[in-house]
Amino acid sequence: MSDDRPAPVLRAEGLMKTHHGEGAPARAVRGVDLCVRQGEFVAITGPSGAGKSTLLHLLGGLQRPDAGSIWLDGESTDTYGEARWAVERRKRIGIVFQFFNLVSNLSVADNVELPALLAGTSPKQARTEREALLAELGLTGKERSMPGELSGGEQQRVALARALVNHPPLLLADEPAGSLDSKGTREVMRLLSRFHQRGQTIVLVTHDARLASAADRVISFFDGRIADDAELDGGTTPPRRSGISGVLELKD
Ligand SMILES: Nc1ncnc2c1ncn2[C@@H]1O[C@H](COP(=O)(O)OP(=O)(O)OP(=O)(O)O)[C@@H](O)[C@H]1O
Ligand SMILES: [Mg+2]
Repeated sequence: MSDDRPAPVLRAEGLMKTHHGEGAPARAVRGVDLCVRQGEFVAITGPSGAGKSTLLHLLGGLQRPDAGSIWLDGESTDTYGEARWAVERRKRIGIVFQFFNLVSNLSVADNVELPALLAGTSPKQARTEREALLAELGLTGKERSMPGELSGGEQQRVALARALVNHPPLLLADEPAGSLDSKGTREVMRLLSRFHQRGQTIVLVTHDARLASAADRVISFFDGRIADDAELDGGTTPPRRSGISGVLELKD
């Protein structure tokens, strides 16, 4: 097949992950193949316990799969250890979680600049990037605040700034509006859409069909597997199956 589609930023094949906790082993991810191309905004939805967070953790190298492989920009990560994944996350993958995960004893400015400094950006450049992002995210004037002094929505915007400060080709977001009220949720979604319009590749995990409808491709995840994978409008790949009419209706 001739292929003039954008290059894959992320590819996974045969991913499996079983958690061994206190109770019975949880087969969270049971064989996932996935390809995310440059510029795509992919939402992964599904019920609680379906394995969405586990999948996202595997894709970001925060957990290792029991089987299967992941490629970043076409490069196999099979030989990556913890340290290498940490470096790749700094450069290539921004991650936003449900509960912000800001460093509580660092100011907003320092939280955003830290990943840039760790990646070797000069202090001057890190400051410039931080100023631009905070302005973009409506947080000018909050630089010296501590995370605990901000609202949930503001903290999540700081987390977004931190995830994007190194211009990662890929943004992974796990319920980034999960702990926010509806206003905060709208804000986060508006910002994600804006970054997407500028070409940011995004993989968003969410329970919420309304949030998923901001994406251009929706993957339904069920019982550790992809149950459905569909383009919402005129995307880069044809729908494999439909069955998401409920989501489509929410789009307007
Ligand atoms: N660290 C862990 N140890 C043991 N079991 C785990 C662990 N993390 C997840 N699980 C189990 O794996 C399954 C999938 O969990 P996961 O967090 O990936 O689901 P999810 O789709 O993100 O759910 P939610 O929508 O509630 O966030 C669940 O049965 C969960 O209990
Ligand atoms: Mg989850």
